[in-house]
Amino acid sequence: MAEPLRFAVLISGRGSNLLALATAAAAGRIAGQIVLVISDQPQAGGLDHARRFGIPTAVRPLARGSDRAAWSRELDALLRAHGVELIVLAGFMRILDPDFVGRWPGRILNIHPSLLPRHRGLHTHRRVLEAGDPVHGCTVHFVSPELDAGPAVIQGRFAVQPDATEESLTARVQQLEHIIYPRAVGWFAGGRLTLVDSVVQLDGRPLPAPVIEDSA
Ligand code: GRF
Repeated sequence: MAEPLRFAVLISGRGSNLLALATAAAAGRIAGQIVLVISDQPQAGGLDHARRFGIPTAVRPLARGSDRAAWSRELDALLRAHGVELIVLAGFMRILDPDFVGRWPGRILNIHPSLLPRHRGLHTHRRVLEAGDPVHGCTVHFVSPELDAGPAVIQGRFAVQPDATEESLTARVQQLEHIIYPRAVGWFAGGRLTLVDSVVQLDGRPLPAPVIEDSA
């Protein structure tokens, strides 16, 4: 049997996706192990989840006006020192510079709270309501140098109800995130998910469009 995938999770906040991933790995639903959690925020709630699971943590703040390239190089060295094979961004609120991304081809995943390519960037739930979108959801994608623009792997999708609020959309999206992110990381860990020449492959076949998880 192949060795379990060594992956790192990068967070900035409460870490509910980290918790879902750690739970899935502990239950054997991901053939892998979180070997490091990095936060850029010393107070991130997700650090407590990591500690409860006995996962090593590191805090690497990026101070305003400091050298972003040096910070990225340090992150890179830390990840490599832990033998990390996959980087999983889970609410990490820092943009990774193109050099960093280029050093991890096909080895960085992100989750975004919208149906990409719709609503890149912040405040996605508010923008969905303002635009009157009939559907909303979340996307797991490979990270490319351009923000929220890498090839999509899987999307969780649901119909926006007429009485939806930012709060209700946040809750629905997060519920779906906790399903699709462990699934995608599980595929990667099982050797089923790869990125070849910027094309997502699942089970050795190009994925023409993301897998859709529809929710009532
Ligand atoms: C998620 O909604 C994710 O889509 C976005 O940041 C949020 C992180 O939430 N990138 P959590 O820290 O995992 O609870």
